[in-house]
Amino acid sequence: MLNYDGEPLLRMEGIHKRYGSVHALKGIDFGVYPGEVVGLIGDNGAGKSTLIEIITGVHQPSEGIVYWNGEETVISSVDKARALDIETVYQDQAVVDDRSVAQNVFLGRELTASIGPFDFLDKSTMREEAETLTRELGLDIASPNQEVRFCSGGEKQGVAIARAMYFDADLVILDEPTTALAVTGVREVMKFIEQLKNAGTSCIFITHNIQHGYSISDRFVVLSRGEKLADLKHEETSPDELEEIQTRAVSA
Ligand SMILES: Nc1ncnc2c1ncn2[C@@H]1O[C@H](COP(=O)(O)OP(=O)(O)OP(=O)(O)O)[C@@H](O)[C@H]1O
Ligand SMILES: [Mg+2]
Repeated sequence: MLNYDGEPLLRMEGIHKRYGSVHALKGIDFGVYPGEVVGLIGDNGAGKSTLIEIITGVHQPSEGIVYWNGEETVISSVDKARALDIETVYQDQAVVDDRSVAQNVFLGRELTASIGPFDFLDKSTMREEAETLTRELGLDIASPNQEVRFCSGGEKQGVAIARAMYFDADLVILDEPTTALAVTGVREVMKFIEQLKNAGTSCIFITHNIQHGYSISDRFVVLSRGEKLADLKHEETSPDELEEIQTRAVSA
């Protein structure tokens, strides 16, 4: 069960982001609790990507404070975010096409073993682990040796999710997971989020399609023109109401 009285995993207070004269975020308070799935929605240019890029260390806020597990933290780089166990899953950049599924799961964090004084890459363990993970995720990948370029868009995201699960990410961020994916792909991604949730991992996902994400989200945050319009728990709202808040903002 989610504990909203406890300490959030991530808490952001009064976040502003300026790109030159563009004021992309105007004093946003945002956060995510342990094990919580938050859907981030809003029209084009609302500031969704900017907000998650601050969490993933791509950008620094112009103003505001970020707390991680209750401690004031500067997420100064993408590596820093990764060291905090924050994983980001992008539609395409998440995997390297000409490497195998197993190589992608362990990319940059390869497992090694040693015999006497010699260290070597533990390829068989990586293959076995990748096979177990993809099977658990329900991915129809013939072999962990398969090159990722032969995977569908949804399967590629699955490989990135497998990576997040293996390395036990505390927070997984999915930017626009459902665009350009076929309907079955959308279902796959929603299933991945469900599995992350079951594993107790917090998740923030950006979506343009409220209907798709509604059932798995614990909470929705609506942004418009750099401001937070709504912050509603699943049981306090409905897909129709969320659509309406967005539409009202666009036409205002
Ligand atoms: N690197 C950048 N340099 C200058 N302006 C930027 C940059 N990134 C974003 N912006 C501007 O900041 C505002 C917020 O953009 P952002 O990409 O965060 O919106 P978004 O909600 O992700 O939109 P979309 O749904 O189209 O992806 C926009 O006005 C955008 O043009
Ligand atoms: Mg965006």
